[in-house]
Amino acid sequence: NHKINIAIDGTSGVGKSTIADIVAQKLDMTHLDTGAMYRCVAYYLVSNHVDIQDSTALEKALHDIHIRFDDKVVYLNDVDVSKAIRTNEISMATSKVAALEPVRKKMVALQQEIAKEKGYILDGRDICTVVLPDAEVKIFMSASPSARADRRYKEYINQGIDADYDEILHDIEQRDYQDSHRAISPLKKAEDATEIDTSNMGIQQVVEAVLKLIPVDA
Ligand code: C5P
Repeated sequence: NHKINIAIDGTSGVGKSTIADIVAQKLDMTHLDTGAMYRCVAYYLVSNHVDIQDSTALEKALHDIHIRFDDKVVYLNDVDVSKAIRTNEISMATSKVAALEPVRKKMVALQQEIAKEKGYILDGRDICTVVLPDAEVKIFMSASPSARADRRYKEYINQGIDADYDEILHDIEQRDYQDSHRAISPLKKAEDATEIDTSNMGIQQVVEAVLKLIPVDA
């Protein structure tokens, strides 16, 4: 489907990426996980001990960062970082790094360049409001913090990873707060986005709700 773009925003752990992946497959579109891009930047800055208060160092780092997707594999300067960018430490660092103006400027420009040909599903925090305000379909996904913590907790347990529910809930609430209170492009529902509250919905139900929003002639 190369006629439209779909923009999805929402809080941490709401399942945007999972839904975007499935919908992209069904509609023969390409999913761009913009959170992964911010995670790459954070991972690079942390690994290279870049002082983010030093604007020259930050600009240099941004210039040296090259992000590439190959299916679900994320490459940062040709190294597969798909797993490394998903740790809790990087999640928390990303939320801080994503508040920096030079970082957002570069990521937004890259995302707009990629999506200009249409046929893309972008998920993130500022897609409907800033990156693709003219997207044909605009969605805001939400779920209560406890519903999201529940899902994340079960994911960890299913993967055999030790998890602490209260810690997960606390981190989700902290990221919500940071993402929605930052000065530049805070997370918020665009006025013309359709909200889908997934607290009590399964994956299949959410996918169907999204598919219903696709224009028939697309
Ligand atoms: O979606 P994900 O949890 O991978 O995003 C990680 C972090 O990246 C978010 O907590 C947010 O701070 C930032 N982000 C952003 N804008 C986007 C996507 C992600 O600020 N479009």
